[in-house]
Amino acid sequence: MASRVNTTRGLIIALGLVWIGCTYYENEPIKLPQPKVSKPTTTLEATYTSTPPNKITSAYWKTANYLAIGPQSLVTGQVPSDDGLYNVSGTLNGLADFNNGKSPKITMRAAYDDNNIYILVSWRDTTFNISNANWVYNGVTDPNKSGSTAGWTSQRSDDKMILSFDMGSSKRDVWNWSLALSEPLGYAMDMTDNSSVVTSDEGDKTYVRNAAGPTNRSGPQYEWDGVQQELTRSPGGLTILDPGFYLLTKKNFVGDVVAGNVVFQNNCAPCHGVTADGNGTDYQTGVALNGPGFMNRFTREAFVSFASNQDLHEGAAHFTPLTSTEVDNLFARLRGFSGIPGYWLQNPSGSNSDVHTLSNVQLAKIDGNNGKGYTVLLIRALNTGNADDIIFNSSAGQYEFNISFTDNDDLNRIGEINNQLIFKPKPL
Ligand code: HEC
Repeated sequence: MASRVNTTRGLIIALGLVWIGCTYYENEPIKLPQPKVSKPTTTLEATYTSTPPNKITSAYWKTANYLAIGPQSLVTGQVPSDDGLYNVSGTLNGLADFNNGKSPKITMRAAYDDNNIYILVSWRDTTFNISNANWVYNGVTDPNKSGSTAGWTSQRSDDKMILSFDMGSSKRDVWNWSLALSEPLGYAMDMTDNSSVVTSDEGDKTYVRNAAGPTNRSGPQYEWDGVQQELTRSPGGLTILDPGFYLLTKKNFVGDVVAGNVVFQNNCAPCHGVTADGNGTDYQTGVALNGPGFMNRFTREAFVSFASNQDLHEGAAHFTPLTSTEVDNLFARLRGFSGIPGYWLQNPSGSNSDVHTLSNVQLAKIDGNNGKGYTVLLIRALNTGNADDIIFNSSAGQYEFNISFTDNDDLNRIGEINNQLIFKPKPL
C-alpha cells in the first residue's frame, strides 16, 4: 500500500516538473492560435466575407477592424430661412453642443460579399430626437429665429447620419439615415449631390409631408388611426412603430384646434397649465400633457375612457360634461401640444429603396435616454444597376467618402471629410 502511494506521489511530482518545464523553461514557446481582436485602422477597410454580416449582432462585427472618426464641426449656426419652421436647429455650436459636448466616439466598420457592401456605424448621442417638422399649435418661440409661432408651426428635428461617396464628375452618392424619416422603414434616403445640389434618387421616398396645405403653417392633414403600426422590414424583420412619433396607418385629422383651445383653457388649464406643462393656473398638478409624442399615443377611446374616469382622473368632473364635438376639438388641441408627425411614412421604391438599414433603436416605444448610443448597419448592392448610384468594384479598391452627423438639427453637422473606403482583396 505504502509503495503504491509513493509511486502515485512520484508520478504527480514528475508530471508537475514536466508542466513547470513546459511553462517556464521551454526554449520555443508553444504557439496557440490567437483570437482575432478588433484593431484601429486609418482608412475604412472592407474585408470579404462569405457569410453576410447582415445583423448588428453578426459575429463578423465583433472582431472586425474599425476606423475611429475624429469629428470636426462642419456646419454651425445655421437657421432655416423658410417661413413657419422653428426650433429645428438645436445644435448650433457643432462639437460643443453635439451629445451635450461629450465625445460622440464615432466608429466605422465594413465588409463585403459577392453581392453587397455592409457598413456599420456607431456613435454616442445620449438623447433620442425623433421629430421632424412636427405640427405644434401656439408653440414656443425660437431663440435663434424671429417670427410669430402663433397658430400651427413646424417644429423640432431628429438625429441623422449622412455618408457620401465621390462618384467623380463633381457628383456624390449620398446615404442619409434619419431617425424620423428613414429608419422606421429600414432604409437610408438615397440621394445624389451634383455640384452641391442635392436631389433624391428616382422612385418613392420613405416620407411624405403631412400637411393640409402648401406651407409650414398649414397644419396636419392626417393623424394616427389607432391601429397598431406593424411593418415587416427586409432584412430587419417585423417591427412596430411608436405612434407618438411615427405616422404609418392614418386617417384625416379630426377636430377644430381653435375651438379645442377654448375648451382646454376653460376646463383643463386650471390643473394642467395654459401650455399644458403642468403649471396649473389654479392648482399645481405638475402633470404635463405637452411632452413630445405624448398625446399621439392615446386612441380617442383610451383618452375618453381615462379622462372621464373619476377613480383615475382628478379632472374627470371637468371632462364628463363635454359634447362629442368638444372632445374631438379638445383632442386635436392636445395633440397640437405634443406635436403631430410632420411626415407620414411609406415603403420606398426604385432607386430610393437601395440602401437598407438596421439599427439598435427599439421603435415600438421610444422613450428615455439613448444610453447605448446609436449603431446603424447600412447594406447596399455593390452595383445597384441605377445610374444615380456609385458602383463599388471590389477589385478596383479605393473610394473617397465623407461622413457627418446631426444631433436634433436639420442643418448643422459634425463629421469628417475625405476619408477612404478600401476593399481588401478577396482571398483566393
Ligand atoms: C382638478 C384638476 C384637473 C383638471 C381640471 C383636469 N385634470 Fe387631467 N389630470 C389631473 C391629475 C391630478 C392627473 C394625474 C392623474 C390623477 O391623479 O388624477 C391628470 C391626468 C391627466 C391625463 C393623463 C396624464 C398622464 O400622465 O397619463 C390626461 C390625458 C388628462 N389629465 C387630461 C385632462 C383634460 C383633457 C382635462 C380637461 C378636460 C383635464 N385633464 C382636467 C388633474 C386635472
